[in-house]
Amino acid sequence: MTVATAAAGTNIALVKYWGKRDETLNLPATGSLSLTLDRLGTRTRVAFDGGARGHDRVTLDGAPADAKVAQRVSAFLDRVRARAGISTRASVVTDNSVPTASGLASSASGFAALALAATRAAGLELSPTQLSELARLGSGSAARSIFGGFVEMERGARADGADAVAHALDAAGAPIWEVRLVVAITAAGAKAIGSTAAMQQTARTSPFYPAWVAGVDGDLTAARAAVAGRDLAALGAVAERSALRMHASALAAEPGILYWNPATVAAIARVRALREGPAPIAAFFTIDAGPHVKVLCAAADADRVAAALAGVPGVLRTLIAAPGPGARLVETTETAA
Ligand code: PMV
Repeated sequence: MTVATAAAGTNIALVKYWGKRDETLNLPATGSLSLTLDRLGTRTRVAFDGGARGHDRVTLDGAPADAKVAQRVSAFLDRVRARAGISTRASVVTDNSVPTASGLASSASGFAALALAATRAAGLELSPTQLSELARLGSGSAARSIFGGFVEMERGARADGADAVAHALDAAGAPIWEVRLVVAITAAGAKAIGSTAAMQQTARTSPFYPAWVAGVDGDLTAARAAVAGRDLAALGAVAERSALRMHASALAAEPGILYWNPATVAAIARVRALREGPAPIAAFFTIDAGPHVKVLCAAADADRVAAALAGVPGVLRTLIAAPGPGARLVETTETAA
């Protein structure tokens, strides 16, 4: 029996994914573009050892996973089993390097690490592109965490999803663009509404959803050029408008979806003030399906940006993340079955 352990970093989208063109295969309505991080990751160990009492045994951060999480992991493992032609239940031990109860737990790094560990434990060797396609079935954003640094996810056109995969934007071995994402945590606990339900509600009811979708291709073109040209101001401008337009589409849903809290708004104001102050700092915000604010800046400015955000009323803590590698195998061991 093979026991495989994989690690993956989470990623933050600078051009957001918000809406699906197919719910079963988790196919995105648009492409997206993200940065994979060195912090806020997941490490997952998988062994097809029979599980426990005929079920997969899923341990999350040291405790048995709740039923919803365990079900989602099992459904994902079913796809891996089908592909490998096995039916054995598995034991999955997964740990997130995320501050406890921060509300930052991410399905992106989780399903990227699970895709790699589970396929190796099942005896499969998938290419990064195949892993990206598989990870997407667990969570749309997970397809991006298979790759490191700046990553673009393709919308794809095929009905089977084979072309709805991610790829790294920088050539292998290219110098890393030393940007940072400063994360300002503004609340403890889980988010109000999960991304899948919120996307559905937005797509079904928001009059702004078609406008949101129509704008993404232009944002992708601009973001791609900004990454290639290492143009922080251009990338930051795209990131801010993408986040604001994504949230605008959700706000206009019925009922409206509001992820922000007062500290979210105060942090946005502080970022704008940093840019406009007497000693301007190039800092740009983005916000996902939650109240936290993530700020893109140059490595040299990260400490000052973090200090400014830490002083915003309602910001509980800050952390600084750098570009990180894609999903990787940490260990495989062979044991007697
Ligand atoms: O991967 P999901 O289904 O959790 O969706 C992610 C949605 C956002 O984080 C809000 C945007 C993105 O592109 O990551």
